[in-house]
Amino acid sequence: MRILIAGNGGREHALLWKLRRDAPGASFFATLPNGGMAPHCTGVAISPTDVVALAGWAAANRIDLVVVGPETPLAAGLADRLRGAGIPVFGPSAAAARIESSKAFAKDLMAGAGVPTAAYEVHADASAAAACIEAMGAPIVVKASGLAAGKGAVVCSTVDEAVATAREMFSGAFGEAGQQVVIEEYMEGEELSVFYLAHGEDFVPLLASQDHKRIGEGDTGPNTGGMGAYAPVGFVTDALMQEVGERIVTPVLRALAEGGSPFSGLLYAGLMITGDGPRVVEFNCRFGDPETQAVLPLLSSSLMEPMFAVAEGSGLSGHVPAFVEAAAVTTVLAADGYPGAYRKGAPVSIPSLPDAVHVFHAGTSLEAGRLVTSGGRVLAVTAVDRDFGRARAASRDVAAAITFEGCRFRGDIGWREARRRT
Ligand code: AMP
Ligand code: GLY
Repeated sequence: MRILIAGNGGREHALLWKLRRDAPGASFFATLPNGGMAPHCTGVAISPTDVVALAGWAAANRIDLVVVGPETPLAAGLADRLRGAGIPVFGPSAAAARIESSKAFAKDLMAGAGVPTAAYEVHADASAAAACIEAMGAPIVVKASGLAAGKGAVVCSTVDEAVATAREMFSGAFGEAGQQVVIEEYMEGEELSVFYLAHGEDFVPLLASQDHKRIGEGDTGPNTGGMGAYAPVGFVTDALMQEVGERIVTPVLRALAEGGSPFSGLLYAGLMITGDGPRVVEFNCRFGDPETQAVLPLLSSSLMEPMFAVAEGSGLSGHVPAFVEAAAVTTVLAADGYPGAYRKGAPVSIPSLPDAVHVFHAGTSLEAGRLVTSGGRVLAVTAVDRDFGRARAASRDVAAAITFEGCRFRGDIGWREARRRT
């Protein structure tokens, strides 16, 4: 079997790691692999957003399965191209990927399907947005509608800040993504990320996890792509998962299918667990990063088998994911300056690792055999242990022992869970 992974971040390294365990005899390929992936696969020097070239390469190289990691190639139609060439692909069509690539589309779909989410308005000019913000009051959330690498949502505590944020978005702070701005009611509660393997209206959940979006300890400072994650999450019950399945995932998958854009791939539900029950913060059309680095090391059953079943269209029946009874805590190491400007090219040193600690690479590359930084989020350290506190300590200790110039990480990943357990 010949498997191509499109993408080269921490999530894709975790996918490569898991799929190699599931299919040890397979040949693996990845686009522009990072410094941690490169030793374990054959590199393909094509950007995953160059969808015509990559689909052509996959056809010419007899690829049996393509797993698409990031949202940008999906939004650009990579899965459509591959399906058109008869190549099994795990990832939704561009039309279904609008659940992530257009927040305005996602909000309208949810409203039509009666899915609980924050009240909202979509605006295309600054004065209408300002009037809406003044009418709704603060706190309030201002979001660029398009793709912004997790940085396009700003929680504002005052009306003035929200008006200024919307104005910045319209004046191009997020490029085209900010041409439409979604103004949203602020929801209070605890966040939860749930991954669903989905095919049409069928779906199975993986273990729920929690991300840490803010750059600073204690969840302070600007939003990032994600600074750490852990799984499982103590407050998640079977009843909650059932409620999310029934009130959120079922109607959304049905609405996509009925609208002519059935979803096939990984549906990520970003939820706020409020006093009134679960409500949607956002959907993503792919695995979350860094939640994947926490969830996959706990998955004891094959990921390859359900992924391939979805990709070739045979569906999910009989595929029930199984998880080890342990906790995983993932600490992200970022370059100083992230989520703003940061420097690249700093040499990275990783000590030898204890058992059950995995280092997934994100922004690294190998230059003349030497590992150097090449992105804002550089590495993710996942520790697995039957005891949550030990997993947390091990993740933090290994993160502290890794060195590169300007290395930053949050030492408090999992703090909500730790507080719950005391
Ligand atoms: P998004 O890009 O929509 O996932 O938003 C990024 C982050 O902003 C979320 O993970 C939340 O922490 C926060 N956020 C977004 N929308 C809301 C909301 N309506 N109420 C409260 N927090 C929100
Ligand atoms: N961790 C959030 C995301 O992947 O969008």
